[in-house]
Amino acid sequence: MAVASGSARTPFIAGNWKMNLDHLQSIAFVQKLAWTLKDAHHDFSSVEVAVFPPFTDLRSVQTLVGSDELPIAYGGQDLSAHDSGAYTGEISGAFLAALDARYVIIGHSERRQYHGESDEQVAAKVAAAHRHGLVPVICVGETAEDLERHGPSAVPVSQLRTALEGVVRGQEVVVAYEPVWAIGSGQAATSEQAQQVAAALRATLAEVLGAEAAEATRILYGGSVKAANIAGFLREKDVDGALVGGASLQLEEFASIVRYQKHVI
Ligand code: PGA
Repeated sequence: MAVASGSARTPFIAGNWKMNLDHLQSIAFVQKLAWTLKDAHHDFSSVEVAVFPPFTDLRSVQTLVGSDELPIAYGGQDLSAHDSGAYTGEISGAFLAALDARYVIIGHSERRQYHGESDEQVAAKVAAAHRHGLVPVICVGETAEDLERHGPSAVPVSQLRTALEGVVRGQEVVVAYEPVWAIGSGQAATSEQAQQVAAALRATLAEVLGAEAAEATRILYGGSVKAANIAGFLREKDVDGALVGGASLQLEEFASIVRYQKHVI
């Protein structure tokens, strides 16, 4: 599919804090992040910034972002496929929406690996997110073994296809390509590898949701992203941002990733 030049996709840098930072630490972090980016004259309309704190932090982050009118988005790291009821320990999309969360990460490889989440469950969660007006950040990615057996794109494309089964045109999604072998390993994919899979994912989006939706959808790369490699990924035409884990917990490093457009490369 030909990609129109002058793409209108706003680059997106998202910090996945995983199980780190309690609510007090997250308030301090978000406040300092906002100051640091403001001091650096970061243009939030040119690169969107979002953080994904643990559930117990979200109310505090909402209060801070709301009262100080910070231009930082936030979301949950997961949600239940159900809206309410006897599901001990689960969090409804309705609760995230009530906290003004804009996004929710769905199908992160750590959920798939440690909680046995299937592609079908991911699809049900994507539908739940849309029922509550949240934008799902759908994570897909191959393991080292998948890579050896099937090449780089087959598994992520098939995961995405299933995840999109209930999505109808007009519903926004963000896709995060996160090769499992690159997460937390310090060994990021090359920007060429990320581009190759991102292009295959965009072609899948086009097939399922149409060319226009595919063109408008942001595809992130995730896996050992840091300030030293971010600009290379964002130079690729189908990579529109990053889902950052470890480096999103280091204030200066994360602020520098957000400001990748200023990097001299
Ligand atoms: P990492 O994690 O940046 O620490 O590799 C990425 C992720 O899991 O989203």
